[in-house]
Amino acid sequence: MCGIEILGTGAYTPVLRVTNDDLAKVVDTNDEWISTRTGIKARHITNGEPTWRMGAEASRQALENAGIDGSEIGLIIATTITSDFSTPSVACVIQDAIGATDAAAYDLNAACSGFVYGIDAAKRYLQTDSDLKYVLVVAAERLSKITDYTDRSSCILFGDGAAAAVVARSDKMFTSYIGADGRGAKFLYSKVHKVLHPFRTTDADEIETGDFAAGKYFLYQDGKEVYKFATKALPAAAKKAADKIGLDIADIDWFVPHQANIRIIETAAKNLGVKMDKFIVNIAEHGNTSSASIPTALHEAITDGTIKRGDKLCLVGFGAGLTMGAVIIEY
Ligand code: UT7
Repeated sequence: MCGIEILGTGAYTPVLRVTNDDLAKVVDTNDEWISTRTGIKARHITNGEPTWRMGAEASRQALENAGIDGSEIGLIIATTITSDFSTPSVACVIQDAIGATDAAAYDLNAACSGFVYGIDAAKRYLQTDSDLKYVLVVAAERLSKITDYTDRSSCILFGDGAAAAVVARSDKMFTSYIGADGRGAKFLYSKVHKVLHPFRTTDADEIETGDFAAGKYFLYQDGKEVYKFATKALPAAAKKAADKIGLDIADIDWFVPHQANIRIIETAAKNLGVKMDKFIVNIAEHGNTSSASIPTALHEAITDGTIKRGDKLCLVGFGAGLTMGAVIIEY
């Protein structure tokens, strides 16, 4: 079986730490509400660092931990919904920053499921291209750029950060499932700026809105709809991936879920019939960092010795799109 091995991971967490009490100074909220409804105590937000710089820092660390040089990377897949540029890709800017001179590079947008989609893609490249030795999957997110800090129902959830993994071909166990349901796109989105070119004869919003409300350049969410989707999508994705190789969910050592809300993770665990002590959770300190959340939790659990070589891991996420996915690998 062609699988992949994670050779090294890295993460970058901005120094600026915003607690629930800090947020209560700018919006009508309080620590008690945020803690009990979400499990979040603090989030880290960039003090100006761009998305690519966070991604480059995480990548440098992942390369160091993998013991390989940037020049050995053949492909960089950067996952982000908050690139610094419409073009070029943030992956190309990271490629230059880490000296990955021989790497192809592109961005992948699957929102919070991005890292899972990225690992799935990396495995497929490694499986079909024998010249390719190492792939860098780097998730970098600056959600503070699209967060509406006057909307108390959403601004309390999000943080910034980046995390990366260097992967190589191996014969270790691997299975994955990725999916999407575009009917739910209207429940979680952030629009790009309005296009008013000199030849346009109307600026009426209804031409461009469709299911999506006018304005909404900041992240908009229907929290209840997203919550409902998430609690079903996480267990469904994990089961679909496991079923492909006849793996029993009970044989997985660690679940590394997207860190969106502790109550979502608890419900997903219950629906899977798995105890919470098998779930890696770091939401209290980071909040939701979109595609960076799974690899950040993974990196922290590897670094503190919780996850050990040989452990079977299920990385499982959901996000805007709506997207979902799970990757089951042996560390
Ligand atoms: O990566 C994916 C990103 N998004 C998600 O994962 C979001 C998924 N959804 C959620 O996590 C939850 O729906 C939220 C955390 C967003 C909201 O939790 P909830 O338990 O569904 O709360 P709610 O929206 O039903 O609001 C309950 C009350 C409301 O007050 P009333 O109408 O009952 O008087 C809100 O106005 O809580 C109020 N409220 C707040 N109060 C204090 C909403 N936000 C806050 C707040 N502080 N920050």
